[in-house]
Amino acid sequence: MTALDEIKIGGLGASRKRVEDQRFIRGKGNYTDDIVLPGMLHMEILRSPLAHARIVSIDTSRAWQIPGVHLVLTGEMMATRNLAWMPTLSYDTQAVLATDKVRFQGQEVACVIADDPYIAKDACEAIDVEYEPLPPIVNPEQALADGAPVIRDDKEGQDSNVIYNWEVGDAAGTERAFAEADTISRLRLHYPRSHPSPIECCGSIADFNRATSKLTVYMTTQAPHIIRAAVALVAELPEHMIRIISPDIGGGFGNKVPVYPGYVCSILASILLERPVKWIEDKTGNLISTGFARDIYLDGELALRNDGKILGVRMHVDSDHGAFFSDAQPSKFKIGLLHSAFACYNIPAGRITARGTYTNKAPGGVAYRCSFRVTEAMFFQERMIQAAAQDLGMDQAAFRRINLVSDDQFPFRTPFGFLTDSGQYGKCLDVGLRAVGYEDFRKQQAEAKARGRLLGLGISTMTEPLGAGNSREYDILGIKMFDSADLKVHMTGKAILRTGAKTQGQGHETTWAQIVAHELGIPAEDVVVEEGDTDTAPFGMGTYASRSTPVAGAAVAMVSRKIRAKARKLAAHLLEVSEEDVEWELGRFYVRSAPDRGVTIQECAMAAYSNMPDGMEPGLENTAYYDPPNLTWPFAVYIVTVEVDPETGVWDVLNMVAVDDCGVRINPMIVEGQIMGGLTEAYAMANMQFITFDAEGNCVGSNYMDYLLPTAWETPGYELHSEVVTPSPHHPIGAKGIGECAAVGGPAAFVNAVMDAIADTGVRNIDMPLLPDRVWEAITKRHDVSGAPPVRSDD
Ligand code: CDP
Repeated sequence: MTALDEIKIGGLGASRKRVEDQRFIRGKGNYTDDIVLPGMLHMEILRSPLAHARIVSIDTSRAWQIPGVHLVLTGEMMATRNLAWMPTLSYDTQAVLATDKVRFQGQEVACVIADDPYIAKDACEAIDVEYEPLPPIVNPEQALADGAPVIRDDKEGQDSNVIYNWEVGDAAGTERAFAEADTISRLRLHYPRSHPSPIECCGSIADFNRATSKLTVYMTTQAPHIIRAAVALVAELPEHMIRIISPDIGGGFGNKVPVYPGYVCSILASILLERPVKWIEDKTGNLISTGFARDIYLDGELALRNDGKILGVRMHVDSDHGAFFSDAQPSKFKIGLLHSAFACYNIPAGRITARGTYTNKAPGGVAYRCSFRVTEAMFFQERMIQAAAQDLGMDQAAFRRINLVSDDQFPFRTPFGFLTDSGQYGKCLDVGLRAVGYEDFRKQQAEAKARGRLLGLGISTMTEPLGAGNSREYDILGIKMFDSADLKVHMTGKAILRTGAKTQGQGHETTWAQIVAHELGIPAEDVVVEEGDTDTAPFGMGTYASRSTPVAGAAVAMVSRKIRAKARKLAAHLLEVSEEDVEWELGRFYVRSAPDRGVTIQECAMAAYSNMPDGMEPGLENTAYYDPPNLTWPFAVYIVTVEVDPETGVWDVLNMVAVDDCGVRINPMIVEGQIMGGLTEAYAMANMQFITFDAEGNCVGSNYMDYLLPTAWETPGYELHSEVVTPSPHHPIGAKGIGECAAVGGPAAFVNAVMDAIADTGVRNIDMPLLPDRVWEAITKRHDVSGAPPVRSDD
């Protein structure tokens, strides 16, 4: 016997087909809305039509009279149970149902629980709410203006709309860098509000059983254990009597991390009625009230030497958080990991000041397919880099090459204090430039220009911190960020693996089994993976911020190694040699001096239940909790070429090249799928997605007629490159996260390409989305086009 062929057993590097797709493509997925429980009632939410108003009265009497209505909940009723407000994941409070004021359009005002959702919806319309309108505030500039109404007048001591002022970096060093600069490049940008808009909306089914006192909640959550902790704390229920089950999820992208009022109301309703209560958000509810991201303004400056060296970076950001500060992010950082900006560049000094404001918009700041604000960080970074190269009159690629961190500088301390782990940035850039035919394109561009055609090329180079913890620095409300895996190998060598992560389409059921196959030689098809049930899965922080592979994936490797260590003892017993004389090759232990004498991992599994040595605990199962020593730092180069039509402002993508180095790829096919999905979201953001608010605070973009998702028809083709592989030195299998890189780094590549095409107009910026009318206006009027008024720093 010899070692197994790793690819054949579906180990690392196998492009194994996704096992979960067997049920998805047959229509056999089991989503929250598919679940029907006996006696189940349905909940609908009445939402505020106004962005800012005092509630004068709520009259529910007509709603109660509608046949089939079981319960009408208002803020006043919630308050009697101390549930009108709930804590957020960022140490703020959020109204569950409004009592004093409504603070954004779409805010939850009342709920009806009825026999079916239609009765519940009709009854919502029968609730009479009298509002006294207040002036709405829709951006930080208005929020900070003298005399602006204080949105959060419910909070003692809150006498303005400022939530926080936060800063990071080296103020004195940065000032020195700017004093020494030959040139200072400045750019003001707005990263507009966007929405993860998963196809499946949020929802929950709460099922409180009075006989057992057990509360079971089926829900669309990316972080079931965090929700269990939140329910225990908010509803003051004993944690062991709460079971959160997250069934199949139809896309999360960060939208399904926070705790939403609908969850809380359905739980209370089930406790009061002692019947299961289902709440499924509709699409408009999803788009106007849950899970907003971005909405942040930048004043950015780079201190430059005329030879192209960046000496320092200064950024001031104003973040529009909406009415409640409910960002789901590591508690230590007020503005997520925005300070991961410029991590791939060798810049001696940097400083960021950040200010958060309340506005009359739904709470924002979810980590929409990103590691807590890194999307904004990388977008600002790459737009600033392009503008700086232009200001110096330097070639875009050459400017990056001068400043990128070189291979021998790792581990590298970034300008804002992170330690990046590994990378080959220059090599990735070379691969990308070669693939896109950089020099040839520049010639074509010049020729086209002579004939009045506008061609452009945009580059985005970025590294992203993926895999929070470590637990020393990363926690959410004091709960440390680590993750877990639990592996049970049955006597026949088949296994069940459970982790604290929760897949939402990323393919964990496929890839985690591949890690087990790699570590133990058990074929991946013999390993079933389960996630999302707090009664069976080990405690974990869930899936967001591409933390699954860096943390839960590492835990899978570590628990497999624990199993292997015990299997080695069993092998020694079966082979009648000492443990030191036993060697391992994939799937098999053998005697060092007699390689033909061996036992398979399956034979060891059988022995664990039928023939263990004296004194050994029976069974072959274990749990690992993994606290990562550092984040993983994948690197990517995205290069886009476009043609802009000067008559209409329409721009078409000619070519898009993506070079992603995410270390060891567990499943190359899944990795490519993740990259393509991310690039498509990036394209949507840059090209068409537009969710904004009018002066009255009405949400524009609250349906898929206005908030556009690119279909296969609009989506450009992508050329993906995988030849650069820099394993993470601290991850047990050398893997780095990949889920969000393309969504994070992609938008700047598209925007940079369009800006490059129109560079001769002198226009420095067009805010996303680069809609044809905005591009056309910029070209014809030769001025920057912003989506919203920028906010200046106080500094
Ligand atoms: O946390 P999330 O699952 O969203 O992101 P991720 O950890 O980057 O993983 C996304 C998917 O890509 C998972 O199925 C991973 O196992 C897979 N992956 C991979 O095959 N190889 C990598 N180096 C990274 C991720």
